[in-house]
Amino acid sequence: MSGAAIPIVIDCDPGHDDAMAIMLALGSPEVDLRAVTTVSGNAPLRHTTANAIRVLDHVGRSDVPVASGADRPLVVDPYPPGDVHGETGLDGIDLPPPARAPVETHAVDLIAETATTSDRPVTLVAIGPLTNVAIFAARHPEAAAALERVVIMGGSIGLGNVTPAAEFNIWGDPEAARRVFTSGLDVTMVGLDVTHKALFTGEQNERLRPRGRAAKLAAELVDFYRRSHPRIGGTPIHDAVAVAQVVKPDILTLEHCHVEVDCGPVSRGRTLVDLRGVTGREPNVHVATDVDSAFNDLMADRIASLG
Ligand code: BDR
Ligand code: CA
Repeated sequence: MSGAAIPIVIDCDPGHDDAMAIMLALGSPEVDLRAVTTVSGNAPLRHTTANAIRVLDHVGRSDVPVASGADRPLVVDPYPPGDVHGETGLDGIDLPPPARAPVETHAVDLIAETATTSDRPVTLVAIGPLTNVAIFAARHPEAAAALERVVIMGGSIGLGNVTPAAEFNIWGDPEAARRVFTSGLDVTMVGLDVTHKALFTGEQNERLRPRGRAAKLAAELVDFYRRSHPRIGGTPIHDAVAVAQVVKPDILTLEHCHVEVDCGPVSRGRTLVDLRGVTGREPNVHVATDVDSAFNDLMADRIASLG
């Protein structure tokens, strides 16, 4: 991998779009995927961990270590998985069971080890509930300070997708999200506002399908995932948009503003994004407000490049 590549760790809960995000990273020379860590979210932890390994190994990257992390949210009880990704988190996909175990190191310790031993500051791309990231920041403050930044897929300036107010990754562990947003880390939030502007169409998926082994898997991931997104003209590949922001920062427009996470009972998990600066509070998050239409071709080309 080129010395100029940005070292990244992906913390995830695969998840169809998480799998696409991992492949996008692997196909992009601008980034060097040093580790994948897993959290419970789209499915219980044992499934998300197995799925991360299955995807990496399918594209010949069994050298990337996978560490499992939190199996439940910080404060509230675990919730049953929804049906967006199916019971296994990667339903509808024909991949063999994992041929290796995760490393014995806990996810938050592997993030710390990677951050402190890297030749260049590491960017943490968090595309599941933020439980691991919150624990990492609390347990390893020096390693957290050594990070370049944290790019998350989560939240929304506008509507949610689990409740009218809340996006899934923030809703899945609002207390963890609040900790991350108030941690002083350099946080970029890639929310539903932009992921829903970057819909991957059926036509684009058919063009991707014949372009190799990774492309075929990606098309099958989209085949399943699109069923949860009827009538909007395409499928948001949420998590891949966060990786794309690291690969090509110009692909998103960002606004630096204050964001608060609602941990209360009514709008639990809502991200209150002060775009107009009405609170007068210090900006703490770079919030994505627009996405370049080049995103879909970038994602498809980079995944296809994996062969
Ligand atoms: C987010 O929730 C999960 O279902 C996806 O993997 C993505 O990270 C979108 O709201
Ligand atoms: Ca995810």
